[in-house]
Amino acid sequence: MIGSPRRHEPECESTQLLLGPGDPEGAIATTDHQTAGRGRRGRGWVEAPGTSVLVSVLLRPPSERPAPQLSLVGGVAAAIAVEDALGLAAQIKWPNDVMVARRKVAGVLAEARDGVVVLGIGINVNQTRDQLPADTRVAAGSLRTIDGRVHDRERLLDSLLGTLDGLYARWRAGGLDAVYEDLGARDFLRGRRVSVDEVAGTAQMIDREGRLLISTGSGVVAVESGEVVFER
Ligand code: BTN
Repeated sequence: MIGSPRRHEPECESTQLLLGPGDPEGAIATTDHQTAGRGRRGRGWVEAPGTSVLVSVLLRPPSERPAPQLSLVGGVAAAIAVEDALGLAAQIKWPNDVMVARRKVAGVLAEARDGVVVLGIGINVNQTRDQLPADTRVAAGSLRTIDGRVHDRERLLDSLLGTLDGLYARWRAGGLDAVYEDLGARDFLRGRRVSVDEVAGTAQMIDREGRLLISTGSGVVAVESGEVVFER
């Protein structure tokens, strides 16, 4: 069961560092503030203290399941939890961002090390507009800037973990195919002009292996990973 045991620190460098191979599958670490929060591709993840859901989960996926797919599984869980809290649709911007109303409200980071995967999820919950970073590639939002309400972070965490527990069990048993219905329907990039490193074209879909299919002048290219730049 994802969520137990739980280690909570009022403040830490990064919840990603609070878990390791000695922990059982499903163990989580949470905090109210990170002093060195980690984002994808060596970037940081910053939040004002006490405003966010910041959680890492220790997972031991079966060897036949590609660990990078876990960032999509985590993204779907975060999107569903955010939708339940807001009553609004959320999308996944491949490979790891959760978007509402064209703003990034959550990010996911899957780090594999020492035979385990630490899946980190950060959700912007109660930040006011001026508490959000202004210089991000994708405009940041919080649940509060979207609906004007202050949300209960513990309740959102519970909902996130319950959803992730179910999705992870399905993914373990059946791979991305088993969660595809929840993922494909939330594809933010579908139909948008995108470029990922050297590949430019129109995003077609996230395929059943978790790759982004891009339709280019010379055919469809399947991109395994990378940084997406998209047009509005
Ligand atoms: C990204 O969008 O680049 C991924 C951000 C992931 C942030 C979360 S917050 C909880 C966990 N601890 C970290 O240091 N990072 C992840």
